[in-house]
Amino acid sequence: MLKIAVLVSGGGTNLQAIIDSAEAGKLPGVSIDCVISNKAGAYALERAKEHGIHSECISPKDFADMDAYGSYMADFLAKRDIGLVVLAGFLVVLPPVFIRAFAGRVINIHPSLIPSFCGDGFYGLKVHEAALARGVKVTGATVHYVDEGTDTGPIILQKAVEVEEGDTPETLQKRVMEQAEWIILPKAIEMIAAGRQDI
Ligand code: GAR
Repeated sequence: MLKIAVLVSGGGTNLQAIIDSAEAGKLPGVSIDCVISNKAGAYALERAKEHGIHSECISPKDFADMDAYGSYMADFLAKRDIGLVVLAGFLVVLPPVFIRAFAGRVINIHPSLIPSFCGDGFYGLKVHEAALARGVKVTGATVHYVDEGTDTGPIILQKAVEVEEGDTPETLQKRVMEQAEWIILPKAIEMIAAGRQDI
């Protein structure tokens, strides 16, 4: 059984897609062990509670520095025997001490086709604002392994989504979530659990 921890910061629609896939029997061999947020008020924590999943807020603000936070998180997740850490709208950059402890076992969903519109400062709606400002006709989402850079790790899955006439950052974000993110994130977890990811 692959025990996963899902790290979140906000609404948690990607977390919901993982829960829905698991409840529909599409994630054989996967157990959602816990949901950790850096923000106490994140709605994602409510989603976890509704489905009986252990949930907690662990904020970097409660630690002396990012190294102390990263070490605590790595210990916390190792003690729970977590085999895969899924960043699902998690907006904290995890420090090297954490990434080294979980090398090759952290994945992230990013709302663009990497290497476009990624890296420092590209998160959430800002990604879609930048895509519209550049005038791209196709965007999408990427699931990738997390290394010590920002959005630089090996790509696992990508899915393209068309930009439509009159799109706003909000309408584009919604389409990218519905047509790409909520599909490829559970699929990547399923592939990793089955030992089928090809990078
Ligand atoms: C998602 O669009 C996700 O791809 C993005 O934040 C949103 C979280 O939504 N992540 C990033 O921008 C990471 N760089 P959710 O809380 O509803 O899943």
